[in-house]
Amino acid sequence: MYKYVLIFLLLVAAASCRKPKATECNDEIALSRLSDFRVGVAISYPDLLTNPIYNAIALKQFNSFTPENIFKPGYLHPALNEFNWADADTLVAICTKNNARIHGHTLIWHQQLPDWINDFQGTAEEWDQLMKTHIQTVMQHFKGKVAGWDVVNEAFNEDGTLRNSIWRQKIGTSYLEKAFRYAHEADPNALLFYNDYNLESNVIKRNVVINYLNDLRNRGVKVDGIGLQMHISLGNPDESQIAGALQQVVANQYQLHLSEIDISVNLLNNNPNPDAATFDRQANLLAKIAGLYKAIPVQYKYGITFWGVSDGNSWIRPYYNRQDYPLLYDDNYHPKPAYCKLKEVL
Ligand code: XIL
Repeated sequence: MYKYVLIFLLLVAAASCRKPKATECNDEIALSRLSDFRVGVAISYPDLLTNPIYNAIALKQFNSFTPENIFKPGYLHPALNEFNWADADTLVAICTKNNARIHGHTLIWHQQLPDWINDFQGTAEEWDQLMKTHIQTVMQHFKGKVAGWDVVNEAFNEDGTLRNSIWRQKIGTSYLEKAFRYAHEADPNALLFYNDYNLESNVIKRNVVINYLNDLRNRGVKVDGIGLQMHISLGNPDESQIAGALQQVVANQYQLHLSEIDISVNLLNNNPNPDAATFDRQANLLAKIAGLYKAIPVQYKYGITFWGVSDGNSWIRPYYNRQDYPLLYDDNYHPKPAYCKLKEVL
């Protein structure tokens, strides 16, 4: 008799182990359905086309797509009079079909330029013309399909000085103003952003950027928003620093895009196998950020964008050559605590 009771109890225990707990994290309801602002993701075009799991998650969970690489000049503008529209057009068509907004990234940057631009020999006027042609050809091609653009990316150094990028060297410091003016001419309805990293933590850099953009505005240049990239790590910056950054951008009446969020858990490369408590800390930090963002006035909420779907396709591993786990999904495309905590806040 006892033997049968024991077997029965073991069977019940086994069954209850298999049953998902009511609190278990799953991704059946999309992030974008829960949120009153756009929740976006950087799209790796090769992954979108070749990985069905990636594709399904990206299209279901997010409603704003930033092409991770294929809108950059190195890809889109391979030679002086040659534009490579095919892949970008396919991506745009996929987004449109899925009612996702497209955020254009990026027109003017010092990285991922094609060789012909890096090697271009010309006067300041010819460089100016080159920049104008690039901005306007790209924006006109996607007119009405791309909601907003990172017109200039990462133009400032950490000490607040203007980066001596190839654009500044060849055109002079006025290149920033010109870039925004050309962009506005090309598509007056597109939202125009300045995008940069460490603006959430570096007050000196943030003050300089905001003052610079305010000055452009005072001279009649249209600048709609600021992208805080938010490539951050556990503990740096902390919640109060992030709150200060969000508050300052909004107080200066810029639309705010948290444009490239990832939260490193192994910045110093001394924690390659983080424990559960680490992932809970990551989740709590993300929840705080989302809560702060949710609280800003609606007219400034352009949206938040994660720089990748899963830890396995984050740029951090190949770029910095370290193991890290900065995103919402794990290497097996299972939602992480960060995903679920985010959901509780949205
Ligand atoms: C990164 C991409 O994620 C990588 O795939 C690529 O090799 C390098 O660029 N700031 C930016 C993004 O504005 O464009 C960068 O994207 C990450 C840092």
